[in-house]
This record gives sequence, C-alpha cells and structure tokens, in this order.
Amino acid sequence: MILNNKVIVVTGGAGLLGKAFIKEILAHGGIAILTDIQTSLAQDFIDEIKVEYPDQFYAANMDITNKPSINSLIKDVSKRYGGIDCLVNNAYPKNKNYGKKIEDVSYEDFSENISTHVGGYFLTSQQFGIFFKNHKGGNIINIGSIYGTLAPRFELYKNTEMTVPVEYAAIKSSIIQLTKYFAQYFKKDNIRVNCLSPGGVLDNQPESFVRSYNSFCSKKGMLEPLDVANTLIFLLSDSSKFITGQNLIVDDGFSL
Ligand SMILES: NC(=O)c1ccc[n+]([C@@H]2O[C@H](COP(=O)([O-])OP(=O)(O)OC[C@H]3O[C@@H](n4cnc5c(N)ncnc54)[C@H](O)[C@@H]3O)[C@@H](O)[C@H]2O)c1
Repeated sequence: MILNNKVIVVTGGAGLLGKAFIKEILAHGGIAILTDIQTSLAQDFIDEIKVEYPDQFYAANMDITNKPSINSLIKDVSKRYGGIDCLVNNAYPKNKNYGKKIEDVSYEDFSENISTHVGGYFLTSQQFGIFFKNHKGGNIINIGSIYGTLAPRFELYKNTEMTVPVEYAAIKSSIIQLTKYFAQYFKKDNIRVNCLSPGGVLDNQPESFVRSYNSFCSKKGMLEPLDVANTLIFLLSDSSKFITGQNLIVDDGFSL
C-alpha cells in the first residue's frame, strides 16, 4: 500500500477529477479527506465510499477562498487523524460568466475568476504550508493544465460551445509559477510542492471534438479521470520524495 495511511486533503473533491482522486487514494491505502465548497454535490458518492471505507474516509465543506474555513478544516482533520500529510489543490472556482469569448469577457469577471482560482490555491498553500512547517513537513500538489504552458488550440473548439477561456490560461500558468515559488520557499522545511498538469479529460464532449483532439495524441487521446489519478498517486507517494518544484504533464502527447 504505497500511501500507507497518509492523510490527504483533496479540494474540489466532489468534482470529476476529485472523485477519482479520492477513490485511488483509498485504493492505495491513504486516508482521503474530500473537501468541497458544496460536498452535497457528491452526496451519493460520499455515502457509497463511507460504507466501503468507514475508517479511511472523511468529507467536509471547505471553501478555498475563505481563511477561517481552511483553518477550521485543518484543525478538525489534524485532531481527528493526528496530522495531515498532503494537500491536493484541485478545486475549480468559476463565476457564472466564466468561459466567454475574449471580446465578451469583462474586466470584473476576469479579475474575479483569477482571484478565486489563483487566490484560492495561494491561500490553501499558504495555510497548509504554515501547518506543515510547524509539523515536520508535508506535500502539496497543485492541479494545473496543459493550457498553463501551451498556446490554445482554438481550431479544435470550432463548431462547439467550448473554448479555452482566457482566464484559464492566466490562471494555470500562474499556478505553475506559484508551485515553484512555494517549493523554493519551503525547500528547507521538508515540504515539497509540485504541479500536475492534465490534458483534456473525457466528460461527454461532442464526438467530433474528441476525434480531432485525439489526432494530436499518442495512443489514447482524451484521458479518463483514473489516468490522471495514477500520476497523482506517484506524486503523493514517497516514490517521488526527491521531486519538488516540477510541473508534470499528463496528456498522452497532446502538447508535443
Ligand atoms: N476536466 C478537465 O478536462 C481538466 C483538464 C485539465 C485540468 N483540469 C483541472 O482539474 C481540476 C478539477 O477539474 P474538474 O474537471 O474535476 O472540475 P469540476 O468542476 O468537475 O470540479 C471542481 C470542484 O471544485 C469545487 N469548487 C469550486 N469552487 C470552490 C471553492 N471556492 N472551494 C472549494 N471547492 C470549490 C466545485 O464545487 C466542484 O466540485 C481543476 O483545477 C481543473 O482546472 C481539469
């Protein structure tokens, strides 16, 4: 069991990738803490997992943009399990106007989406970082995206409702640099910080889009949440204990 009772907090745990992360952490012997702004979004999943893993699983509301909410979660979990080993920054805050074409994005919406997403990842990293420093170390993994390093491939999104939001490029590139900053800052405190940048994940996208997307890939194309979770387990485990400050891209070659 590669995760050997490590206590791992996942933000945005009620979402598409979050649920797969929780399942894999549990399957590899970790203690998984599902946090979300609204855990009720995944109530059926939570009920099912609670029965399967009564001692290894806990779910609680936590808002990554709210310092008291983060600190009360840290206090609650560390008391319950005697410590915390890892934080997975995976939440995806967005306001109701997120994802418009560049001409239609207002300054206010741009700023709000950057502030909640980058600001939220900063705030959790800061608060968990302080906790880890006072408790002999820890491990932070930020979920980035290929669009943190790659120019948008707009042609893929033609004739679909989807796009690569301009905020997303700004957010995910910031998160890669934030990762390096925190990794450097906490290098001597036994805290490592890495970024995991997935390519597109299958989620009922139009077939024609998936086909075009896949033509850029090596063998599979768009990934399933489990494909990303497998790499997360490596970064959470001691197999990667000498890796810090890195951005690991998992995209079946899409960005090459
Ligand atoms: N799905 C993809 O194709 C893909 C690809 C690359 C990277 N990513 C990244 O992976 C991460 C997860 O993506 P997803 O597709 O699973 O998203 P999702 O929308 O399915 O889930 C995100 C979760 O975050 C929660 N959340 C939103 N605001 C929050 C806040 N303030 N505090 C706490 N939780 C909050 C939501 O309630 C939701 O449950 C994101 O960072 C995303 O950018 C996703």
